[in-house]
Amino acid sequence: MSHPYPPDHRQPVLGASSLPPLTEDTHWYRRAVFYEVMVQSFKDSNGDGIGDFPGLMSTLDYLSWLGVDCLWVPPFYPSPGKDDGYDVADYMSVNPAYGTLEDFTRFVREAHVRGIRVLVDMVLNHTSDQHPWFQSSREDPAGPFGDFYVWRDTPTGYPDVRVIFTDTEESNWAWDPVRRQFYWHRFFSHQPDLNYENPAVRRAVIDVVRFWCSTGVDGFRLDAIPYLFEEEGTNGESLPATHHFIATLREVIDTEFPGTVMLAEANQPPRDVVAYFGSDDQPECHMCFHFPVMPRIFQALREESSQGLRTILAETPPLPQGGQWAMFLRNHDELTLEMVSDEERDNMYRWYAPDPQMRANVGIGRRLAPLLHGSQREVEIAHALLLSLPGSPFLYYGDEIGMGDDYTLPDRYGVRTPMQWDAGPGGGFSDADPADFVLPMVSSPGWDHRAINVSQSRQREHSLLNWLRKMLAVRREHPAFGIGSMSLLSTDDDAVLAFLRRDESETILCVTNLSSSSRAVRIQLPGMGGWGLKDLATGHSFPTVNEHEYVDITLPRHSFYWLSVSMPKEQA
Ligand code: NOJ
Ligand code: CA
Repeated sequence: MSHPYPPDHRQPVLGASSLPPLTEDTHWYRRAVFYEVMVQSFKDSNGDGIGDFPGLMSTLDYLSWLGVDCLWVPPFYPSPGKDDGYDVADYMSVNPAYGTLEDFTRFVREAHVRGIRVLVDMVLNHTSDQHPWFQSSREDPAGPFGDFYVWRDTPTGYPDVRVIFTDTEESNWAWDPVRRQFYWHRFFSHQPDLNYENPAVRRAVIDVVRFWCSTGVDGFRLDAIPYLFEEEGTNGESLPATHHFIATLREVIDTEFPGTVMLAEANQPPRDVVAYFGSDDQPECHMCFHFPVMPRIFQALREESSQGLRTILAETPPLPQGGQWAMFLRNHDELTLEMVSDEERDNMYRWYAPDPQMRANVGIGRRLAPLLHGSQREVEIAHALLLSLPGSPFLYYGDEIGMGDDYTLPDRYGVRTPMQWDAGPGGGFSDADPADFVLPMVSSPGWDHRAINVSQSRQREHSLLNWLRKMLAVRREHPAFGIGSMSLLSTDDDAVLAFLRRDESETILCVTNLSSSSRAVRIQLPGMGGWGLKDLATGHSFPTVNEHEYVDITLPRHSFYWLSVSMPKEQA
């Protein structure tokens, strides 16, 4: 099959074998700290106001200083940019505004030198309507790409499928005046869905994945993965054929590029998400985002109750061997409220998005620090949960310094503004005239780059940034946070969440006061009478668990402890 884009764009530049070795641990992703970075908004190297790969490369020492193990880079492929790159026009090259394929592979190599891995976004459900496959499909229905998309004479198929982008779309069908038929799209109407019933489509996207593997990347975030196949009479999500295709992709990766990690973006309830890990016999993804736990962290802080978190954690099924949750507080999208009840959604809007401009689709278009009213303590508590709940934490660029947002920008762009590096005129992001920046910098008083930036945060001993760096270092010393089991503990105060993280070598008690007042709490530790407690961050001893197998601890408002729990003979 011939591809209608220039072949010189598709030459692999570097083989993975030319890269220096990283750790041999094949389960590295279970212990890693991830960081989502939008290349266009992070660091501009050539003064055009658009972040790029050479710019991102120059920040690797900062990311390594912070304690990041792996970057997730959202789509950086050529694109008309109507969905910030999630509308891909060429799967096998780099958006020229962000650099060249060689810049990309150099960036990957330099990241690896620092022990940092790289996941790239794979948008396999749909393309841009500008992609040559779609252009060919609409112009030449009988040609090799005629059946690459889902075409119908009437816009009536799959009526049970929901609309995701409720702010802009009314239907999942759109009329194409060229082919004079309707095509299927799960997201924007300029993002036609690929037709996975067509084996040529399946082969073509697997080739795309192979291509990026050959550049040395360590894995993929699989965008919108539940929606690959459609079937009449269903809601079109998580269909058996979709799972089958993911398992096939995993097989190809395991055979040809072993060790490459697949991460599912499946915004589904835990019992459905867990299917994206597959089984021991037929593995699918190594990691899945845990969508439902995220809004419950925000809910817990306002309700001053651990109930919602306890319920969702109890409903989260065990994972097959080698599986790992990807935990997050925020990302480049809206804070999605698809996984909560109508009543919970109303509450979330009331607490966190009182101004309708703050809402986006079924969610909230704000960053972490402004959501939490700039309260460093609340931001710390949210991170303490992110770092200690079972799974690998995903940080979102800028959240480590408590960056603000601009919810007056359209769509979800308000949370994608340029990184604030220093107090200089372009915030250290770019030397261009700020009017030419890819997106305006945050300008609201108290949130702009003069007030909040990396440089000042590094200098201030008690800044959020220095606190987070320290906690990441503490977490790194204790693999149980990544690979250990989790068991919820009973307390006599609903505002305090307590659980154990445990692996072969250690047991950690995580206690979090979600409320805005001090709490004295009694925590049950069955079978641990006489065991000693020690603060992981400071090494200070806490009261020993008494013979009735409980311990009383007092926690100031919005505070937490991570305490090692050890048998008397293990204590120093
Ligand atoms: C999920 C991505 O995170 C989002 O930004 C994008 O708009 C949709 N998928 C469509 O690709
Ligand atoms: Ca640039």
